[in-house]
Amino acid sequence: MTDSGAPHSRITGTGACLPARVVTNHDLAQIMDTSDEWIRERTGIKRRHLVEGETAGDLGLVAAKNAIEMAGIAPDAIDLIVVATTTPDKVFPGTACIIQRRLGIGGCAAFDVQAACSGFVYGLDIADRQIRTGGARVALIIGAETLSKIVNWEDRGTAVLFGDGAGAVVLEASEQEGVISTHIHADGRYADLLEVPQGISSGYDAVRAERAFITMQGNAVFKRAVATLDSMARETLDANGIDRHDIDWLVPHQANLRIIAAAARKLDLPMERVIVTVDEHANTSGASIPLALDAAVRDGRIGAGDLLLFEAFGAGFTWGSALVRF
Ligand code: UT7
Repeated sequence: MTDSGAPHSRITGTGACLPARVVTNHDLAQIMDTSDEWIRERTGIKRRHLVEGETAGDLGLVAAKNAIEMAGIAPDAIDLIVVATTTPDKVFPGTACIIQRRLGIGGCAAFDVQAACSGFVYGLDIADRQIRTGGARVALIIGAETLSKIVNWEDRGTAVLFGDGAGAVVLEASEQEGVISTHIHADGRYADLLEVPQGISSGYDAVRAERAFITMQGNAVFKRAVATLDSMARETLDANGIDRHDIDWLVPHQANLRIIAAAARKLDLPMERVIVTVDEHANTSGASIPLALDAAVRDGRIGAGDLLLFEAFGAGFTWGSALVRF
């Protein structure tokens, strides 16, 4: 319990789902003017998983089931579902409702969060506050993306960067410390540096003609990402009076290995203490942190009692961090 008598929220299960199809940098070099060397050097990416017809909801459902199994709960114990996605199955209903139905449960709140690559941390923030104020006891937070659907496969500047996948966590009310603090932010003045410029209320014809693609001013985004990751780490540590050397694991959004390495340097963390999946998954937006978390939990690197720092940055710009006792 916290000092005020309210429960903590604690991660009790993690899960992941990656599409079976793997596309390497060499595969991409067959269809566009790029090379394995360029992609590895500039991004750290070696390969990515891409869907062959699966939806974000399909991937999110499997990730959710894996997290539920690890938590050892009955699905009907879940009383809040938040899905972070920029590639929902349908305009509406939300992918959270679609997954809710496929889990065979009904009645609890279920909604999507649109905060691009920061969506999972936004979802964790909402669910943690719901649990601590008694609005929910068991929350399912899913990041699920099929970014290959909004990538322009004729634009080498963006096509090589993204992948598909889903990750999930079960968050439960607990007397034990878990989520220590979350910090979410946005600055819409940077909205046009990284966007899909069409949407339902503007440019819908372009969407229907499948010409709605990710556009990015990569270099400007890169610089802002590095600076913001530094400031959000300081904000999170200062808010909790924690020294950077107390962090056991950095679990960052996986956009670019150079951005991740810069964040680790600022924290004085060796790369052995940073969970990196960008090489295998590329950038899966809202799915990248729960995918990285699940990989490190299942291979035994992250264990009970470890102090984790999640950091995300993405379109909007949005950004967010969470300090979590696992
Ligand atoms: O998840 C949300 C947040 N997103 C990010 O954080 C992404 C941030 N940005 C980045 O990661 C990097 O800016 C990129 C990886 C996108 C690009 O790396 P860069 O070092 O900023 O390269 P650049 O865009 O300045 O391009 C350098 C050169 C250009 O050629 P010239 O003009 O120097 O002749 C590009 O045309 O690399 C060229 N280039 C490529 N060459 C081979 C761009 N894409 C490719 C490619 N293969 N795929």
